[in-house]
Amino acid sequence: MTPSEGKVVTVGVTGASGAILAQAALRLLDADPRVAQVHLVVTETGLRLFAHELGIVAADPKQLPALITGMRTTKIEVLSNKDVGASIASGSYPVDAMVVIPCSMGTLAAIAGGTSDDLLARAADVVLKEGRRLVLAIRDTPFNRIHLENMLRAQQAGAVIMPAIPSYYHQPKTIDDLVAQYICRVLAQLGLPQQQQYQWKGQGKSKAQEA
Ligand SMILES: Cc1cc2nc3c(=O)[nH]c(=O)nc-3n(C[C@H](O)[C@H](O)[C@H](O)COP(=O)(O)O)c2cc1C
Repeated sequence: MTPSEGKVVTVGVTGASGAILAQAALRLLDADPRVAQVHLVVTETGLRLFAHELGIVAADPKQLPALITGMRTTKIEVLSNKDVGASIASGSYPVDAMVVIPCSMGTLAAIAGGTSDDLLARAADVVLKEGRRLVLAIRDTPFNRIHLENMLRAQQAGAVIMPAIPSYYHQPKTIDDLVAQYICRVLAQLGLPQQQQYQWKGQGKSKAQEA
């Protein structure tokens, strides 16, 4: 499949806690027939979090997609965060949407400040200037005033602020249940609704009727 036959999505991964969120998103994007290409940019601290939280350590960055997804994948291309001249650094390159997951307060600040001093921040800046979809799966708690102001700034520039806050009304039993439903909501924001996304039907139905 070529990019003209499917969506091109950039996934940025930073050093906020939640490497499992990046892993779940990449697995679904890799398996999604509507997606032709995924460009993956991981910050230095993002690599550290993959190691710390998931035990994923790649001797060569090119091994990352297979290690993260557990599959042999040709759809996910790793780009160096230092390479501000990569394809996704230019608005002329047809990226459909970008998600930063998880998104640290540091990278949120870089995006809100338009610093563009690494590939991830530049790619996000480009997505905003081109009027494309940018979803920021921010994670920290509690937030200070600087975080909140940066969120507002990014949102006013067009980003979707999608904190890594799971829902509970679908009655999750495991961490994977929590993660899966949050990731479905994130992908829906990227224009890729998932079949397995839980939909609240109101409280008129009992559990037995739902089954
Ligand atoms: C184990 C660990 C967990 C962290 N969790 C968070 C977090 O949840 N949110 C956050 O904003 N920063 C967190 N940090 C701090 C960021 O990694 C740090 O600010 C880093 O400079 C962010 O850089 P990056 O956005 O380029 O990855 C964490 C750091 C470590 C080592």
